[in-house]
Amino acid sequence: MSAPGIEIKLTLNGQSILARIAQEDRLLDFLRYGRGLTGTKEGCGEGECGACTVLLDGVPVNSCLIPAWQARDRTVETVEAVPEGELGSLLESGATQCGACTPGVVMTAWWVRRNRDLVETHGLRELMAGNLCRCTGYDGIIEGLGAWLESAQSGNEEPGGAA
Ligand code: FES
Ligand code: FES
Repeated sequence: MSAPGIEIKLTLNGQSILARIAQEDRLLDFLRYGRGLTGTKEGCGEGECGACTVLLDGVPVNSCLIPAWQARDRTVETVEAVPEGELGSLLESGATQCGACTPGVVMTAWWVRRNRDLVETHGLRELMAGNLCRCTGYDGIIEGLGAWLESAQSGNEEPGGAA
């Protein structure tokens, strides 16, 4: 008898992997409980808060809404893939207090940092609108992201980071 579930191949945080998932698993479940990537948080569980944000083929998605099988043959990046030490200006600006929203905020901010042309057509608050925060009033998040973008622009890039 074959093992239960579905086998999928994907690239997770830069590594090509084979994984067996249950048909009903959300991408969030697969990451947290299947792979131990607990940086990705569950807040609302229904696509409202952005705490579960990961990058799917480089674009932020709510992993609580995505069936895990939809990651098949695709690229998934979680907060664990963001280089440590690169978050200084983002986190020093008061962008985080309780921290519940922070992994999702970091992933959306990382997407903006890697696609800086977005800021030519969208405001930072608009780009971050999918990530709710109950603590900071958002000013720290927006200031931190602005400083992070500036530090990248001045050539202070992380190795292999902002594209
Ligand atoms: S937990 Fe996914 S959007 Fe809130
Ligand atoms: S820092 Fe508490 S929800 Fe954002």
